Amino acid sequence: MSYQTILITGATKGLGRELVLDLCKKGYQVFATGRNETQLQELMSQTGCLGKCFDLSQADAVAALFAEAKQALGQIDVVINNAGMNSRKCELADTNLDEFELQYAVNLRAPYLLCREAMQHMLPVKQGYIINIISTVAKRSNASMSIYTAMKQGFAGLNNVLMKEAQPHGIKITAVYPGGINTTFREQERPQYMQPQSAAAMVSQLLSNPEDVVVHELTFRPQVELE
Ligand SMILES: NC(=O)c1ccc[n+]([C@@H]2O[C@H](COP(=O)([O-])OP(=O)(O)OC[C@H]3O[C@@H](n4cnc5c(N)ncnc54)[C@H](OP(=O)(O)O)[C@@H]3O)[C@@H](O)[C@H]2O)c1
Repeated sequence: MSYQTILITGATKGLGRELVLDLCKKGYQVFATGRNETQLQELMSQTGCLGKCFDLSQADAVAALFAEAKQALGQIDVVINNAGMNSRKCELADTNLDEFELQYAVNLRAPYLLCREAMQHMLPVKQGYIINIISTVAKRSNASMSIYTAMKQGFAGLNNVLMKEAQPHGIKITAVYPGGINTTFREQERPQYMQPQSAAAMVSQLLSNPEDVVVHELTFRPQVELE
């Protein structure tokens, strides 16, 4: 099948924004979301994509987002779970429960809920594609990133089970593990990291792969990272 309609989270900046620019240029019909109203409106005017703001830390917002996107797009062929955040870098002893709960809600619960909505929508039509943006932190354990790592490793586990449940029904699942990207994810610029446009090109090309190929994992990094 050729995919036409895409719901993407975390589209107001960074990787998600570049993905919307790239996908709209390629002719896909995109429903974009984030929290920043001004940035989302700018993106919608620039690309012609549809969209609405939702705060994915609120569980109810995820189902509302899916319903809104479904109404706007009709069939949803592709869901890209891209939104994510890390409050700050610090040792576990200095973290607090609020940070844990926020990261749980945004980095793990929201993609879980969106995968569930997407599966309920895609299973009856026996087609669709869910792309989960995880992180290379899920493949290693860096000091000072305990909560973020835990949520991304949880997301990777969820993705891997989902892949086994979805694929027999014609639904593709890809876990994307990017290394460092120079986005607003961190306060400081990291020019040695990948440009968000480059990372977006890597993700976007998944949709152009031959129909009889499923990419289970896509791992890519900047030149300065080896693992
Ligand atoms: N940058 C990296 O080095 C790197 C490496 C590996 C993986 N990743 C992953 O790649 C994905 C994109 O990251 P990025 O680098 O593009 O980060 P970014 O520039 O900080 O963008 C994050 C996006 O997520 C959205 N978001 C954050 N919290 C949200 C919430 N509560 N509700 C709704 N949307 C929310 C933001 O929207 P608003 O600001 O409008 O709320 C923004 O659009 C994330 O999942 C991240 O974990 C990043």
